[in-house]
Amino acid sequence: MPKIKILDHIGIAVPDLAAAIKTYSTLLGKSPDHLEEVVEQKAKTAFFAVDDTHLELLESTSPDGPIGKFIDKNGGRGGLHHICIQVEDLEASLAAYKQAGIQLIDEKPRRGAHGKLIAFVHPKSTGGVLLELSQKS
Ligand code: CO
Repeated sequence: MPKIKILDHIGIAVPDLAAAIKTYSTLLGKSPDHLEEVVEQKAKTAFFAVDDTHLELLESTSPDGPIGKFIDKNGGRGGLHHICIQVEDLEASLAAYKQAGIQLIDEKPRRGAHGKLIAFVHPKSTGGVLLELSQKS
Protein backbone atom coordinates (compact mmCIF):
# COMPACT_ATOMS: atom_id res chain seq x y z
CA MET A 1 0.00 0.00 0.00
CA PRO A 2 1.36 3.46 -0.87
CA LYS A 3 2.01 5.62 2.19
CA ILE A 4 0.68 9.11 1.56
CA LYS A 5 2.38 11.98 3.36
CA ILE A 6 0.84 15.28 2.26
CA LEU A 7 -0.87 17.07 -0.61
CA ASP A 8 2.45 18.49 -1.81
CA HIS A 9 1.21 21.03 -4.33
CA ILE A 10 -1.35 22.00 -6.93
CA GLY A 11 0.12 22.76 -10.36
CA ILE A 12 -1.35 25.60 -12.42
CA ALA A 13 -0.24 26.12 -16.03
CA VAL A 14 0.16 29.79 -16.96
CA PRO A 15 1.01 31.41 -20.29
CA ASP A 16 3.07 34.18 -18.63
CA LEU A 17 4.88 33.35 -15.39
CA ALA A 18 5.87 36.93 -14.52
CA ALA A 19 2.25 38.11 -14.85
CA ALA A 20 0.99 35.09 -12.88
CA ILE A 21 3.54 35.71 -10.09
CA LYS A 22 2.26 39.27 -9.84
CA THR A 23 -1.36 38.10 -9.65
CA TYR A 24 -0.70 35.34 -7.12
CA SER A 25 1.48 37.63 -5.00
CA THR A 26 -1.55 39.91 -4.75
CA LEU A 27 -3.95 37.00 -4.13
CA LEU A 28 -1.78 35.46 -1.41
CA GLY A 29 -0.23 38.62 0.01
CA LYS A 30 3.35 37.43 -0.42
CA SER A 31 6.14 36.73 -2.89
CA PRO A 32 6.89 33.25 -4.24
CA ASP A 33 8.94 31.04 -1.92
CA HIS A 34 10.88 29.26 -4.64
CA LEU A 35 11.68 29.82 -8.32
CA GLU A 36 13.14 27.08 -10.49
CA GLU A 37 13.50 26.08 -14.10
CA VAL A 38 12.86 22.35 -14.51
CA VAL A 39 14.71 21.55 -17.73
CA GLU A 40 13.39 17.99 -17.91
CA GLN A 41 9.80 19.25 -17.91
CA LYS A 42 10.55 22.24 -20.16
CA ALA A 43 9.03 24.60 -17.62
CA LYS A 44 9.83 27.53 -15.37
CA THR A 45 8.11 27.26 -12.02
CA ALA A 46 7.22 29.46 -9.06
CA PHE A 47 6.10 27.95 -5.75
CA PHE A 48 3.97 29.71 -3.15
CA ALA A 49 3.67 27.96 0.21
CA VAL A 50 0.06 27.85 1.43
CA ASP A 51 -0.07 26.33 4.90
CA ASP A 52 1.50 22.85 4.52
CA THR A 53 1.05 22.72 0.77
CA HIS A 54 2.03 24.85 -2.24
CA LEU A 55 0.70 26.34 -5.41
CA GLU A 56 3.06 25.68 -8.33
CA LEU A 57 2.79 28.04 -11.30
CA LEU A 58 4.28 26.62 -14.50
CA GLU A 59 5.21 28.41 -17.70
CA SER A 60 6.45 26.40 -20.66
CA THR A 61 9.93 27.06 -22.00
CA SER A 62 9.09 25.22 -25.23
CA PRO A 63 5.86 24.69 -27.23
CA ASP A 64 6.53 20.93 -27.38
CA GLY A 65 6.80 20.56 -23.59
CA PRO A 66 3.89 19.22 -21.47
CA ILE A 67 2.82 22.69 -20.30
CA GLY A 68 3.13 24.15 -23.81
CA LYS A 69 0.91 21.38 -25.18
CA PHE A 70 -1.63 21.82 -22.36
CA ILE A 71 -1.95 25.56 -22.97
CA ASP A 72 -2.18 24.99 -26.72
CA LYS A 73 -5.05 22.48 -26.21
CA ASN A 74 -6.69 24.93 -23.80
CA GLY A 75 -6.99 27.67 -26.40
CA GLY A 76 -3.88 29.55 -25.23
CA ARG A 77 -5.16 29.88 -21.68
CA GLY A 78 -3.68 28.50 -18.50
CA GLY A 79 -5.58 26.34 -16.04
CA LEU A 80 -5.43 23.67 -13.38
CA HIS A 81 -2.78 21.23 -14.62
CA HIS A 82 -2.07 18.64 -11.91
CA ILE A 83 -2.17 17.83 -8.24
CA CYS A 84 0.82 16.34 -6.46
CA ILE A 85 0.76 13.94 -3.54
CA GLN A 86 3.94 13.21 -1.64
CA VAL A 87 4.51 9.54 -0.90
CA GLU A 88 7.04 7.86 1.32
CA ASP A 89 8.38 5.41 -1.27
CA LEU A 90 7.74 6.39 -4.88
CA GLU A 91 9.01 3.20 -6.49
CA ALA A 92 6.93 1.01 -4.20
CA SER A 93 3.86 3.20 -4.85
CA LEU A 94 4.33 2.94 -8.62
CA ALA A 95 4.67 -0.83 -8.39
CA ALA A 96 1.50 -1.07 -6.26
CA TYR A 97 -0.45 1.15 -8.66
CA LYS A 98 0.74 -0.82 -11.66
CA GLN A 99 -0.34 -4.05 -10.03
CA ALA A 100 -3.75 -2.50 -9.31
CA GLY A 101 -4.15 -1.73 -13.02
CA ILE A 102 -3.72 2.03 -12.67
CA GLN A 103 -2.36 3.60 -15.85
CA LEU A 104 1.00 5.29 -15.27
CA ILE A 105 2.70 7.88 -17.44
CA ASP A 106 6.04 7.22 -15.73
CA GLU A 107 6.85 3.69 -14.66
CA LYS A 108 10.13 4.89 -13.16
CA PRO A 109 10.74 7.99 -11.00
CA ARG A 110 12.39 10.99 -12.62
CA ARG A 111 13.68 14.36 -11.39
CA GLY A 112 11.30 17.22 -10.69
CA ALA A 113 11.55 20.62 -9.00
CA HIS A 114 13.43 20.83 -5.67
CA GLY A 115 15.49 17.80 -6.81
CA LYS A 116 12.59 15.55 -5.77
CA LEU A 117 11.81 12.25 -7.42
CA ILE A 118 8.51 12.45 -9.28
CA ALA A 119 6.26 10.36 -11.52
CA PHE A 120 2.92 11.03 -13.19
CA VAL A 121 -0.24 8.90 -13.13
CA HIS A 122 -2.48 9.08 -16.20
CA PRO A 123 -5.70 11.14 -15.87
CA LYS A 124 -7.60 8.17 -17.37
CA SER A 125 -7.10 6.40 -14.05
CA THR A 126 -7.84 9.33 -11.74
CA GLY A 127 -11.15 10.79 -12.89
CA GLY A 128 -9.54 13.16 -15.36
CA VAL A 129 -6.96 14.77 -13.11
CA LEU A 130 -3.25 14.49 -13.87
CA LEU A 131 -1.68 13.17 -10.67
CA GLU A 132 1.96 13.75 -9.80
CA LEU A 133 3.59 11.67 -7.09
CA SER A 134 6.69 12.93 -5.38
CA GLN A 135 9.21 11.70 -2.88
CA LYS A 136 11.66 13.82 -0.95
CA SER A 137 15.19 12.82 -1.86
CO1 CO B 1 4.21 19.68 -9.91
